Amino acid sequence: MHPMLTTAVKAARRAGSVINRGARDLDLLTVTTKGPKDFVSEVDRAAEAAIVETLHATYPNHAILAEEGTAKGSNAAAEHVWIIDPLDGTTNFLHGFPQYCVSIALQHKGQITQAVVYDPVHNDLFTATRGRGAFLNDRRMRVSRRQHLKECLIGTGFPYRHGEHLDAYMRMMRTMTIEAAGIRRPGAAALDLAYVAAGYYDGFWEVGLNPWDVAAGSLLILEAGGLVGDLAGDAEYLYGGQIIAANPRIFAQMVKLLSPYRESLPPVSRPLTAET
Ligand code: IPD
Ligand code: CA
Ligand code: CA
Repeated sequence: MHPMLTTAVKAARRAGSVINRGARDLDLLTVTTKGPKDFVSEVDRAAEAAIVETLHATYPNHAILAEEGTAKGSNAAAEHVWIIDPLDGTTNFLHGFPQYCVSIALQHKGQITQAVVYDPVHNDLFTATRGRGAFLNDRRMRVSRRQHLKECLIGTGFPYRHGEHLDAYMRMMRTMTIEAAGIRRPGAAALDLAYVAAGYYDGFWEVGLNPWDVAAGSLLILEAGGLVGDLAGDAEYLYGGQIIAANPRIFAQMVKLLSPYRESLPPVSRPLTAET
């Protein structure tokens, strides 16, 4: 394993222990609201602190872009930026719904080069290093081979926080429900993307995501032979807030069906940087 990936895995497993400990007594957790339907618990913060501490112990000069803002103001000009969601699927976690994960990616000179998505409930570790393939635990992952959308299981996420996306999203949902074999919405985007890489889903789309939701998952998919893009199929998915990810044949079909809705979506109020 690449040494940087080894460090990221160590960080993800430490965060996983924090999360599993917190899950034992959810009623005792302090939960605060960051915004509409946007909750953060002490577990999100403690998991992030464990990750940042582990990464900085080995790589003190690397910048951090993490959802809970632990390392705010770290060196944005750094060549290396770790993009972290310490607990993706917080709403699930807070309800004891067993679908959430840790997501850690390394961006090097603008490219994602290392990725870890760790599901602490099932102890599933999804990893990838650019150019070296993607793995679920010790086994190589490959995207699915299905060729026709009619046979496909497609994952998605609802824009429950971004009301302004809802009308366009509902139209996309209608189209995909008619065209695909089934639609799923488990509630942790980084794990959804890992499922595309593992071939559980044939494709996935969502609008309104942040870079920490998609950075690691996107590399897993590319290294498993899939494609990732924004709704137009272009490369602006990391900071652009829209994503389609699928095996190559299904990707093309999804882009064709969903790209017309692009114009109906409000502009994204980002971009985020390592100094956000
Ligand atoms: C959320 C989850 C969810 C997605 C949201 C994300 P969080 O992340 O990934 O599936 O639909 O847009 O914000 O807040 O639980 O880390
Ligand atoms: Ca997230
Ligand atoms: Ca989160």
